[in-house]
Amino acid sequence: MSYAEIYESWKRDPEAFWLEQAGAIDWDEAPTRALYDRGDHLYEWFAEAKVNTCYNAVDRHVENGRGDQAAIIYDSPVTDTKYAITFAELQEQVARLAGALRAKGIEKGDRVIIYMPMIPETAVAILACARLGAIHSVVFGGFASHELAVRIDDAEPKAIIAASCGIEPGRTVSYKPLLDGAIEEAKHKPDFTVIFQREREEAALIDGRDHEWHAFQDGVEPAPCVPVEGNHPAYVLYTSGTTGAPKGVVRPTAGHLVALHWSMKNIYNVDPGEVFWAASDVGWVVGHSYIVYAPLIAGNTTVLFEGKPVGTPDASTFWRVISEHKVRSFFTAPTAFRAVKREDPEAKMLADWDIGHLRAIYLAGERADPDTIEWAQRVTGKPIYDHWWQTETGWTIAGMPAGIETMPVKIGSPSVAMPGYDVQILDEGGTPVAPGNLGAIAIKLPLPPGTLPTLWNAPERFRKSYLAHFPGYYETGDAGMIDEDGYLYIMARTDDVINVAGHRLSTGAMEEVLAGHPDVAECAVIGVADDFKGQLPMGFVCLTKGVNRPHDEIEKECVKRVRDQIGPVAAFKLCKVVDRLPKTRSGKILRRTMASIADGEDFKMPATIDDPAIVDEIREAVGTMGYPKG
Ligand code: COA
Ligand code: AMP
Repeated sequence: MSYAEIYESWKRDPEAFWLEQAGAIDWDEAPTRALYDRGDHLYEWFAEAKVNTCYNAVDRHVENGRGDQAAIIYDSPVTDTKYAITFAELQEQVARLAGALRAKGIEKGDRVIIYMPMIPETAVAILACARLGAIHSVVFGGFASHELAVRIDDAEPKAIIAASCGIEPGRTVSYKPLLDGAIEEAKHKPDFTVIFQREREEAALIDGRDHEWHAFQDGVEPAPCVPVEGNHPAYVLYTSGTTGAPKGVVRPTAGHLVALHWSMKNIYNVDPGEVFWAASDVGWVVGHSYIVYAPLIAGNTTVLFEGKPVGTPDASTFWRVISEHKVRSFFTAPTAFRAVKREDPEAKMLADWDIGHLRAIYLAGERADPDTIEWAQRVTGKPIYDHWWQTETGWTIAGMPAGIETMPVKIGSPSVAMPGYDVQILDEGGTPVAPGNLGAIAIKLPLPPGTLPTLWNAPERFRKSYLAHFPGYYETGDAGMIDEDGYLYIMARTDDVINVAGHRLSTGAMEEVLAGHPDVAECAVIGVADDFKGQLPMGFVCLTKGVNRPHDEIEKECVKRVRDQIGPVAAFKLCKVVDRLPKTRSGKILRRTMASIADGEDFKMPATIDDPAIVDEIREAVGTMGYPKG
């Protein structure tokens, strides 16, 4: 069947479509019904079925003869390590850790925070939680103590599993002091922690609270898989919203299994046994879905890569990994290719490697700029498929259904809506606009299996953030258009979320940190365009009356404050003291106008601006930071 036929068959009978896809999953109690309408635009999928995610990702492959196949290939240029873990070995490791967690009281529904780098033990920890029906929440290693503390207080974990350190090019990131600081800061205290000691750095353990990974598992009884209801949360993953409080996206168990399984063949075009590589981090949704869960659920080998596109050791790393491990489909963020292109513009290093096994390259996480797509196409000779999705959905909203049919690529578009998603462009009043017109991108409810049914601890915030603006639709927070052929174009965010090197960050969260500086009276953070990272955050602070300290000192303190409280991943390095911020007469800060000034774009002076003269002051301030560029 063609894409159009499959999409139509889904539209005609979504429940039948998803029940059929559910056939690929091994259930403890198979679903007889797909969709549950909970009223008030809330939905669940396969709510009454019983299933275990770890069983589907690991055990069933061992039972079905894949025990000796590599489940995970760990490739770590930063520690000069490479090895594979078979499905049988993975089963053994996961069952053992799950057994140890169970012996310490972790049960179905308990939360476990995982704060670990890109090592196989992280996948083992994730799957051990899934085995018990415990709800994991992975926190990205680039976040600092305070961000971890915020997540501890929201998720209220019984246990935290961490590693002693992460490795960034040129430095070791000591996780344990960050973890200790977070536990100290948080109101909620976990019962215990499990610490994986890496060779590079051994962490000091606190007696009675911290357990060393191996000793913790000594002599324990392996745990079997615990079947859970289809609507049981598989995990909570925090993502940036408009305010400093991150949103805890809830991932429902059964829909997650069904949708991810469907995506591996239909979107990524890989068959069981083939090697799949997503060069992201387990701390992000791409890592959850496409480093850990989906490839394993579908019986693929997943590459777990601990390194960077450049500098570990050089710009040939992507090509080496693809070649050595015979990667079939490769997934990364455009910024990673921009990094490679900057170092090796003609991709001369590719000549040393045979990437013949590779079928296609998939890009997501941020807007894929045409230059990067064309470059990657030219140097690799492979199809480059942009695809668009979010932490909230957990899998592709719009992409190229390469396993069904390869349709023409239109550069600048992540192609077409996947079955399950009725994507529409709405005007401010919520009315669909004609093809080719810009508007808010919304998805007609219900969303498909695997997408978020709510936010952890925040059902009202879920409603307000996603469902309230356009009744009957899910509001994506992105703006764009659909052309006559049904191809989608993503143009911009409609909120204060920015995208820095494929990382989703909240300017609101950075403003909260700056506002906490004792000398800062008010502030604004905007996203400015950056050739390499897509966007960079830029801060403006106004000082409290009477503060006479040198401005550059305060600016440096502000930069340090964001790094210390949010983390290095915020990449907050641009900050300027200004006398005033441009505002409307009613006192709203005109962030969009400021962003246009910093980007050197033409803009219309907002009719509501209180004092147009401030625009020149902002222009001068961005000028001192070297903006607009070019
Ligand atoms: N632990 C600790 N620190 C981390 C970290 C981690 N897991 N990840 C990043 N950081 C740090 C970096 O070391 C850097 O620190 P610095 O300011 O001291 O240099 C800072 O956070 C900013 O990191 P980043 O914005 O990632 O820049 P970078 O120069 O280190 O790397 C890329 C640039 C393009 C290589 C990298 O951003 C990348 O691979 N991005 C792809 C993102 C992605 O996979 N997104 C998911 C969707 S596919
Ligand atoms: P995250 O939740 O971190 O995956 O970030 C999701 C957001 O990143 C989306 O809402 C978009 O703003 C942006 N994004 C992700 N993929 C793409 C893409 N292919 N094109 C444009 N923007 C994207």
